[in-house]
Amino acid sequence: SDEEEMYRPNFHFSPKKGWMNDPNGMFYYNGYYHLYFQHYPDGNTWGPMHWGHAISTDMISWKEQPIALYPDELGFIFSGSAVVDVENTSGFSVESKTPVIAMFTHHDMEADKAGEIIDETQSIAYSLDEGLSFTKYEGNPVIKNPNIPDFRDPKVIWDENRKQWTMVLAAGQEIMFYASKDLKTWKLLSTFGEGIGNHDGVWECPDLFPLPVKGTDETKWVLFVSINPGGPNSGSATQYFVGDFDGKTFTIDKNFQNELAKEHSFWVDHGRDNYAGVTWSNVTTAEGGKLFIGWMSNWLYANEVPTEKWRSTSTIARELGLIKGTKTYQLISNPVKELNRYRAQKFIVTDISVEGETVLTTSKTVSLSMTEINFEIPDVAEEGYTFILSNSQGDELTFGYDATEKEFFVDRNKSGKTDFSDKFTDRIAKAPRMESSSKLTGKILLDKTSIELFYDNGQTVMTEIFFPNAPFETLSIESDNEKFTINNLEIHELNFN
Ligand code: FRU
Repeated sequence: SDEEEMYRPNFHFSPKKGWMNDPNGMFYYNGYYHLYFQHYPDGNTWGPMHWGHAISTDMISWKEQPIALYPDELGFIFSGSAVVDVENTSGFSVESKTPVIAMFTHHDMEADKAGEIIDETQSIAYSLDEGLSFTKYEGNPVIKNPNIPDFRDPKVIWDENRKQWTMVLAAGQEIMFYASKDLKTWKLLSTFGEGIGNHDGVWECPDLFPLPVKGTDETKWVLFVSINPGGPNSGSATQYFVGDFDGKTFTIDKNFQNELAKEHSFWVDHGRDNYAGVTWSNVTTAEGGKLFIGWMSNWLYANEVPTEKWRSTSTIARELGLIKGTKTYQLISNPVKELNRYRAQKFIVTDISVEGETVLTTSKTVSLSMTEINFEIPDVAEEGYTFILSNSQGDELTFGYDATEKEFFVDRNKSGKTDFSDKFTDRIAKAPRMESSSKLTGKILLDKTSIELFYDNGQTVMTEIFFPNAPFETLSIESDNEKFTINNLEIHELNFN
């Protein structure tokens, strides 16, 4: 229907048909970025989980591929990761082809229905055609369930120092660290998480990776743990921890832990629609950063959003970095640089004095359904501001900064179709500003049904979805401060043809 196409994103991945949730098994090899995903191809709500597959040369334009993993007698194929086994540690190589090994959770639905705890085990599959097709290992599962509920989502990384694989796994309310020499035999190393961080929901989809601290010689380890519910604005969200990893144990940084005790949690994204995200294996950016993608929805309403043929999209792929912030180490995330290649029409406004509601651009100049907007505000210390996206139907999405509370916000209460779930509009999403300077820079990505906000060079990020009755066509700004100005507003229409 027209509605389907109206909501199909321009530059975010969405499956051709059927349901999608978590990104899975991302790796880079021979010029291709691979993205697998939790997928139910035969229905538009969560169901028997497969791994769908898509490939890209730039993490922006995706080509969907045949399904990579089907459910089998051990269960549904839940989330997991994939690695390129360059040294053939697994022994799966044939004719010197480099194997790609996927490690995932088998979720036994029969056991689940019978109320048994041991419904989740870990299994592997290998590919000898660079990730296009997989063969499941005959020795599955490779890790049996030690009687722990919610025992899932293995993320494997190569430990170059010890020439072995490290794997992190969500296990009840903790993360378990495992090691293996061949990806088949796994040994438990340690656990992390008791009494630390947010435990208001189920721990899922962990990730562990090193990041260089910008402007220093230091490298720190970052541990991601997705949690559902318990997010900062309700529902699903991803928390992170910064510390060190010695090949065996993750030790949280003291300073970070102190701040954590005050803050309760640090979040990868404060919006309601970035969940279960993890990083690409076998690749880093030139600066040593990691590449990330998340599922752009929330378990609160993911099954009810108003699309029929397909459901859910991914976030924009992001580069992750680490800085020493005002108080402790801080994760920063920004869209991958590859997005810049799609900039087409450019529209620049400089030094705008904002009086009342001031129109910045209309769809006559650029399409606001495929846009990147960069802005700089010289002084947000006084009153803050509100951006307003609107259309002919009277729908409005507002977002901005509240200077009194020192908080960013996104309000989608009047953004169009909202009545599919009470949870969708039960509050205005808010996020604390981390940066203390009065000058604010921001990047806004708009793609039909989503907004991704990157403030202060990625120190605070908010991702939210919405479903307007017609495309948004006007962008305005409003401020209570009489002297409010915005400079260097750059609007880039993006071109994907
Ligand atoms: C996270 C999650 C994972 C699980 C998958 C099932 O959204 O619950 O923990 O593997 O979804 O589809």
